Amino acid sequence: MAEAEAFRIDTSRPHPARVYDWWLGGKDNYPVDEELARRILAVDETVLRGARGNRRFMQRAVRTVAEAGIRQFLDIGTGIPTEPNLHQVAQQAAPDAKVVYADNDPIVLRHAEALLRGSAAGSTDYVHADVRDRDTLLARAGESLDFAEPVALSLIALTHYLDDDPAGDDVHGLLKTYVDALAPGSYLILSQVTPDLSPAAIAKAAQHFHRSGLPFHPRPLAGVNRFFDGLELLGPGVIPVSGWRPEPEDVAAQAEGIVPVYAGVARKP
Ligand SMILES: C[S@@+](CC[C@H](N)C(=O)[O-])C[C@H]1O[C@@H](n2cnc3c(N)ncnc32)[C@H](O)[C@@H]1O
Repeated sequence: MAEAEAFRIDTSRPHPARVYDWWLGGKDNYPVDEELARRILAVDETVLRGARGNRRFMQRAVRTVAEAGIRQFLDIGTGIPTEPNLHQVAQQAAPDAKVVYADNDPIVLRHAEALLRGSAAGSTDYVHADVRDRDTLLARAGESLDFAEPVALSLIALTHYLDDDPAGDDVHGLLKTYVDALAPGSYLILSQVTPDLSPAAIAKAAQHFHRSGLPFHPRPLAGVNRFFDGLELLGPGVIPVSGWRPEPEDVAAQAEGIVPVYAGVARKP
């Protein structure tokens, strides 16, 4: 892709970051994004709760690993800023936390400034990169983070945009190369859409993504568990997102019902 093209905001077709922003009630989306977001909402009524539940999981997971002593965070597939952002959660728990964000969408880059206002004691950085360009992404992240020390790597609601094809994205192989680059004591935080809980709705949602030219790869539990191969899963393991170590604020959302997104956190031994 030409460099100028990588930075151009294309309003002629939907983008995952902007569709997700619409579900979260944000304003950084275009009619084409809203159209796809509404189509998916019409076939999967859990999608708004799923997006909110996913943001809440990010907060609980980041606090959990910060409390376990993690001071470095690499968040890939960051999305359009939505308060509280990951660095705010991490730096509230540990003001000296260093956070690097990475996303390949030009609209996220345009908002990067909002992601870079961190605590004085810590640091925040933004890398405009595709997760599939692992070497470039890690080299840039390495300007802020020390990969000889533990890092929490988060891919939250990202992997369902990547395929399994060994000649394509090879998402499990790709993730393994990221985990291999992490020091012992690092963590992987991951969530992704599954067809397990509401297969008909997720199949229809996938059709809408595909018709819009977007990849979408929901994965069953075994496929999500595979992301954590070789790592020590924290309790309660990989489970629907709202059930992952819920806090009192999550009780009402849990009562609204389960959402088809799995989540887990694991430590590299
Ligand atoms: C559904 S949003 C999730 C945002 C945030 N992680 C959260 O869970 O609230 C998915 C994000 O992944 C980004 N993304 C999709 N494919 C990507 C890729 N190949 N490389 C980097 N980022 C990607 C999108 O631009 C979008 O911002």
